[in-house]
Amino acid sequence: MTAGIDSVLRGSRILPVLTVPDPATTHALAEALAAGGARCAEVTFRTQGAEQVLETMVAHGGLTVGAGTVVTRGQVERAMAAGARFVVSPGYDDEVVARCQELGMPAVPGIATATELMRALRAGCHTVKLFPAEPLGGLRMLRALAAPFPQARFIPTGGIEERHLASYLADRAVLAVGGSWMATAAHLERGDYEEIRRLTAAAVDRSTQ
Ligand code: 3PG
Repeated sequence: MTAGIDSVLRGSRILPVLTVPDPATTHALAEALAAGGARCAEVTFRTQGAEQVLETMVAHGGLTVGAGTVVTRGQVERAMAAGARFVVSPGYDDEVVARCQELGMPAVPGIATATELMRALRAGCHTVKLFPAEPLGGLRMLRALAAPFPQARFIPTGGIEERHLASYLADRAVLAVGGSWMATAAHLERGDYEEIRRLTAAAVDRSTQ
């Protein structure tokens, strides 16, 4: 039986989404996130070195690390080999979900419509990523989608900033909130780990209020 994403996240309600162009920055990034109080992170498969970034994050030991932007079965396998503890996708894909289930890997598929949510629920995925949350209509959209599906939990992601956090986190259907605002490409390019720590701490503080 595959552990649910909720037990893997261990109560953490903030999920930093990381796209790391230079794997050499990974350790410093993990340090900054952990110092800010983050307990988990999602490393996206959008860069050449994503597996190396994942491995280094896992080796750091301070965070529960998942793989993001996973769109193929092969990426599920590579994520698992690199030590990922969960897999997030931008959309719903039967093959990705099936491979995760075969490997015992918690899967969080992305959904943007009721139809996609129904597919995810039928496949046994009760926690989904609402993506891209803000362009879709934010909390209003989330509430409207959640109403007919009380068994569903959401990780809204996409266009979310710190100012949106409190209202999302107050909603019972929201398991956690994901986003890149805590550690952006610009922060990494500048080597601004103090700002990453500060933004992470602010988000984590808000999530525990
Ligand atoms: C993702 O892959 O989850 C998104 O790119 C994160 O969205 P954001 O960059 O708008 O926070």
